Amino acid sequence: MKRIGILTSGGDCPGLNAVIRGVAKASYEIMEEVEFVGVQDGYGGLIEGDFKEMKRSDFSGILNLGGTILGTSRRPFKMMQVVEDDNVDKVKAMISNYEKMNLDCLLTLGGNGTHKTANLLSQNGLNIIGLPKTIDNDIFGTDTTFGFHSACEIATDVIDKLHSTAASHGRTIVVEIMGNKAGWLALQSGIAGGADVILLPEFPFEIAEVCEKVEKRAQDGKKFSIVVVAEGAILKEEANMKKKARIKAREEKSMGTTITNYLASEVQKRTGLEVRTCVPGHIQRGGNPNSYDRLLSTKFGVHAARLIKKECFGVTVAYKNGKVTENRLEDIAGIPKLVTKDHDICQVATTLGLLTV
Ligand code: F6P
Repeated sequence: MKRIGILTSGGDCPGLNAVIRGVAKASYEIMEEVEFVGVQDGYGGLIEGDFKEMKRSDFSGILNLGGTILGTSRRPFKMMQVVEDDNVDKVKAMISNYEKMNLDCLLTLGGNGTHKTANLLSQNGLNIIGLPKTIDNDIFGTDTTFGFHSACEIATDVIDKLHSTAASHGRTIVVEIMGNKAGWLALQSGIAGGADVILLPEFPFEIAEVCEKVEKRAQDGKKFSIVVVAEGAILKEEANMKKKARIKAREEKSMGTTITNYLASEVQKRTGLEVRTCVPGHIQRGGNPNSYDRLLSTKFGVHAARLIKKECFGVTVAYKNGKVTENRLEDIAGIPKLVTKDHDICQVATTLGLLTV
């Protein structure tokens, strides 16, 4: 008999339920006796002891369902070892609840922050298997995360739709695509959507460079432009600032939390072109997983079940060179996978003149 705990943590994304279903179906299939315990709302539920026994029927009809049937929350890693006003030692509480649930292992479905806490729990003796979720595709050691392709499709569709209105009005539209530290989503949806400029967190830019690109298009007779700006894109003058200082400086200049609105108003002011903004926001994480993500999530779930059977813990599932495999948590936790100039997708964008690098 194996008792398997599951939690989903951090920002939701399409494919979480498909992974949960994949693990469960495969486990029932390949192991003698299994029981599942669902931890509610991510690490919050593990700290507070909010969990429930799950039945086979809980895993039915959820393959194509967006979000997470277990709920999720953000519990920053940096606070996990800090005792706050409530006097709760979070690590101790998580270990004690793991023991209370009588688990043989715990599956943690999440992004970078989730993996750091997963590694911490693993180092504290718990049997952990991670599963790489995020629309940002920024987990080290895996070519892709589940949720990314669905988000890419949504973002590409947004850019497509903006094209027709931008072209009709002869406007420049600045569209903000999610991704705070990593620009994969902006880069890939920008290329797929035919954007004219793509601004990524990894490559600080100057507004003059953006103006130059849209003005050049106008001179060439192209009356509209689409500028894709990642949520975390920064100006060159902000590049050496710490996050807190940057937020303060932007506040003082009423620039907004992201650069999008400031960029749009500056481009309009400096070029005389008509500029609009669009922030699709959480729509990018919403709705059903696409076919690619359903398949990838199912493959990841099946692989996790095999790892449980083999009692291979302290790892996270990964996809490398067309194969599902796993990495040691300690080898990948805390290392974000960022866009680099030499990456082939980046090179495509550079050759097309879309980037400001
Ligand atoms: O990690 C996924 C993500 O959507 C990022 O792209 C974005 O920066 C962040 O989550 C937004 O977080 P929240 O949903 O907590 O506002």
